[in-house]
Amino acid sequence: MCGIVAYLGKKEAYPILIKGLERLEYRGYDSAGVALFNNGNLNLYKKQGKVANLVEFAKDKDTSGSLGIAHTRWATHGEPNDRNAHPHFSGNESIAIIHNGIIENYDVLKEELKKRGYVFKSDTDTEVLVHLIEDIQKSEGVKLSEAVRMALMNVTGAYAICVISKDDPNTLVAARKSSPLVVGIGRENDFYLASDATPIIEYTNKVVYLDDEEIAVVNLEKGLKIYSLQDEEKTPYVQELEMQLEALEKGGYEHFMLKEIHEQPRSINDCFRGRLNSVEGWVELGGIKEFEKKFTKAKRIVMVACGTSWHACLVGEYLFEDLARINVEVEYASEFRYRNPIIEEGDIVIAVSQSGETADTLAALELAKSKGAIILGICNVVGSSISRITHAGSYTHAGPEIGVASTKAFTAQVTVLTLMALSIAKKKGTISESKFRTMLAELEAIPAKVSEVLKTNDLIEKISAQYKDASNALYLGRGSSFPVALEGALKLKEISYIHAEGYPAAEMKHGPIALIDDEMPVFVVATEGPSYEKVVSNIQEVKARKGKIIAVVTEGDTQVREMADSVIEIPATDEHLVPLLATIPFQLLSYHIAVMRGCNVDQPRNLAKSVTVE
Ligand code: M6R
Repeated sequence: MCGIVAYLGKKEAYPILIKGLERLEYRGYDSAGVALFNNGNLNLYKKQGKVANLVEFAKDKDTSGSLGIAHTRWATHGEPNDRNAHPHFSGNESIAIIHNGIIENYDVLKEELKKRGYVFKSDTDTEVLVHLIEDIQKSEGVKLSEAVRMALMNVTGAYAICVISKDDPNTLVAARKSSPLVVGIGRENDFYLASDATPIIEYTNKVVYLDDEEIAVVNLEKGLKIYSLQDEEKTPYVQELEMQLEALEKGGYEHFMLKEIHEQPRSINDCFRGRLNSVEGWVELGGIKEFEKKFTKAKRIVMVACGTSWHACLVGEYLFEDLARINVEVEYASEFRYRNPIIEEGDIVIAVSQSGETADTLAALELAKSKGAIILGICNVVGSSISRITHAGSYTHAGPEIGVASTKAFTAQVTVLTLMALSIAKKKGTISESKFRTMLAELEAIPAKVSEVLKTNDLIEKISAQYKDASNALYLGRGSSFPVALEGALKLKEISYIHAEGYPAAEMKHGPIALIDDEMPVFVVATEGPSYEKVVSNIQEVKARKGKIIAVVTEGDTQVREMADSVIEIPATDEHLVPLLATIPFQLLSYHIAVMRGCNVDQPRNLAKSVTVE
């Protein structure tokens, strides 16, 4: 939610900042803005809408300068308009700030500042902070970094901020709490700051991930210094980025989402590479190895997540319960954190998150940790907040996911959960050797089978054309295909704005069946497996009410083909692995329908990729 980027060095900042904003636009696209220091002035340009609007607006303005901050916004406090766009100036316009997060006590501070004569030009919580910094500087006579530190001592909430002042053009001050911030250390005594590493990667691979309540003071003479909020100096921990620049480009595809759907054979392979061997018969997740014993003794696993990641957890529930015989509860992180949940000794809490920054998931984990649980993470973004607060975890290695709609992140999360469940089942002896080896071999075969499914793209495009004008859609599945139905419905609604619901197929007759008429498309996962016949009966129930059936079936199926209006075949696989294949036609379907409806596939309205507010 909101992307921030900043530069201090010798190069022209503006092109670096704009490119950075374009990379971070997935975090919000309500407005964009930039503040640049040049010739003793801070030039501020901001515009409602996407970065492209800002570029158009600033094209004949003075955009020179080697110190600058820039922001792309996902609105929380105040409408998405020019006025509320960041950066924000302090009262005397000597200080500019960008902010990702929410200042929770902003109204109290605002009232105090108003009494002291500050005039607010926006409805944002952020503006409070910049006035407060100016106020402290004036009253205490301290330098910028100290004023920022003192101001932050007075705020509650979440923030990643960058602050510059025209009175100190050699310095950039940044800080974080619960919102991410990375400092890139350039090769030419220059510094790049951003919400994630994507704007930094082409300039340097040396980065420092700020921790909560840390302040980074970047100075052209003194370099990077890090302090705690209590003003203790800390030694920066410099890490090397492994991200590849190509991963951030569309690579010839029209949209990131389509590219990411097509990357899945590779991303799933990257996810299990080096972690399993079906010939030697082993699976190992290095990140959680030291917790294996605790896993084998655990009576309960609680999985916390939001959105698509929550759906992956539901698939994980089937895997862990069936293979490793451990009771699993899957919780919406936002509900879990406010419910005073019961955590017992030995409970393991696993957070699943693509970004590793989702505010509710992070808070749920913190709560579980405070109650004594072992907390583990399954994240995609390396160095993210969740990956750093957990006791241990496994990365999904799916590579950067830029499209707001999750696709490859979901299949990678399911792959890691499968590996985890298999390794614990093996340790516990709840899986036979032959079943274990068969599943490993099946998992190794999944990337090639995903490639097969991707070949149905043209067929799916034709099916999409038939249903692109639907107002509603139902998605049905049983067993671990129920989460696939939920995920299919989420994909359709979030990018094409068609109302869609996912249901366990048998639940349909307890209400949703009333919706079915000859215009209602019903997407069903009807693959081989123990519940196949039951799903066939559910399809009959839809047909009897003249609903349109679009079924995902196992290659060679004849029974459903006779009943369905359209079928999409996927290769046969172990029933536990069906979600990895069955989800792909639904991703493609949503993609094509959204394109046909003229929707912005990669940046759907009102959404942001990384939800760092609750
Ligand atoms: O980064 P996370 O996986 O924690 O994000 C959770 C949800 O916001 C996310 O899965 C969202 O539902 C998807 N982008 C939707 O496609």
